[in-house]
Amino acid sequence: MPLITETIVTTSNSAGDVHIAPLGLIATDGDRWTIAPFKPSRTLDNLRAVPFAVANHTDDVRVFAGCLTGRRDWAVRKAEQVQGGVLEAALSHWELAVEEVIEDDVRPKFVCRVAHVGNHAPWTGMNRAQAAVLECAVLVSRLHMLPSEKVEAELKYLEIAILKTAGTREEEAWSWLMERVDAWREKQA
Ligand SMILES: Cc1cc2nc3c(=O)[nH]c(=O)nc-3n(C[C@H](O)[C@H](O)[C@H](O)COP(=O)(O)O)c2cc1C
Repeated sequence: MPLITETIVTTSNSAGDVHIAPLGLIATDGDRWTIAPFKPSRTLDNLRAVPFAVANHTDDVRVFAGCLTGRRDWAVRKAEQVQGGVLEAALSHWELAVEEVIEDDVRPKFVCRVAHVGNHAPWTGMNRAQAAVLECAVLVSRLHMLPSEKVEAELKYLEIAILKTAGTREEEAWSWLMERVDAWREKQA
């Protein structure tokens, strides 16, 4: 399995509107990274229209949880060398230029070179609650296709790290995701 790094990807449409979405970037030959958006998605449409993206590395997991729960209004500024936006909450970012497109019926792949790297703030180390929010965000993005026993079992496990190690940002992110889980539970009942 290739290494995948979970980032906040910003893309733009031809009018210059920036779109923010959490996506996993897949390490590809040499130092390239592949973005693989499912069909249909705005990220996919944007990459076809404007073949650039910014991968934002942030420890503010509210951005991951927020994007999945309708809170996409995160501050961005103009990227330096490609068309796109840098998340203000990014500790570092990569500006990416699409070099190759591999078509697929489900999930086309956009292989990118890193055109520019920006470093903005120090990383303060690993935190279990941040990892748990990330896992929970993936779970929430797949609620429609997972059996409820699996969802409940995973939530129970992930909650341990929240209870033991979360700060205020992680607690807020978790609460947004739990709103979504509660709505899903009501539909199941
Ligand atoms: C950690 C994480 C990683 C994700 N990785 C991907 C991915 O690689 N490809 C994808 O299509 N969606 C991925 N998703 C789900 C997208 O963020 C979500 O479906 C998003 O809304 C994309 O659609 P959009 O471009 O229309 O906003 C991921 C979600 C999370 C929380």
